[in-house]
Amino acid sequence: MAETVRFGVAMDADLLARFDEWVAARGQATNRSEAVRDLVRDVLATEITEDPDAPVVGTVTMVFNHHTSDLSERLDALQHDHFREIYTKLHVHLTAHDCLEVVILRGRSRDVRALADKLLGTKGVKHGKLVITTTG
Ligand code: NI
Repeated sequence: MAETVRFGVAMDADLLARFDEWVAARGQATNRSEAVRDLVRDVLATEITEDPDAPVVGTVTMVFNHHTSDLSERLDALQHDHFREIYTKLHVHLTAHDCLEVVILRGRSRDVRALADKLLGTKGVKHGKLVITTTG
């Protein structure tokens, strides 16, 4: 366990008031210090994942209509082509027509982003998003 160091922060009162509102909105279990630590970790994790060679994990969430031509087959083929970068996927039949898929990816940041772009850019995918993170 690393040594804990305390330090003070000078901040504009209005900015601090807005920060306190944001902290309060996150729930009673948190406080300023915890919120600042979370923000610092988030910034550092984002910086790490922006290195194209960094090992990362990511989730691609996407919604599509499975009746759209051969979309399901095209998405499956793409995922087979990249089986090394895919841990698993969850498929939920949202309605009689619409599907939700969450695909969990791993690999170097550039490869995970490229595969996510291919999945989300597949014709017929209505919308979706990549969330990328790291264990570091
Ligand atoms: Ni489905």
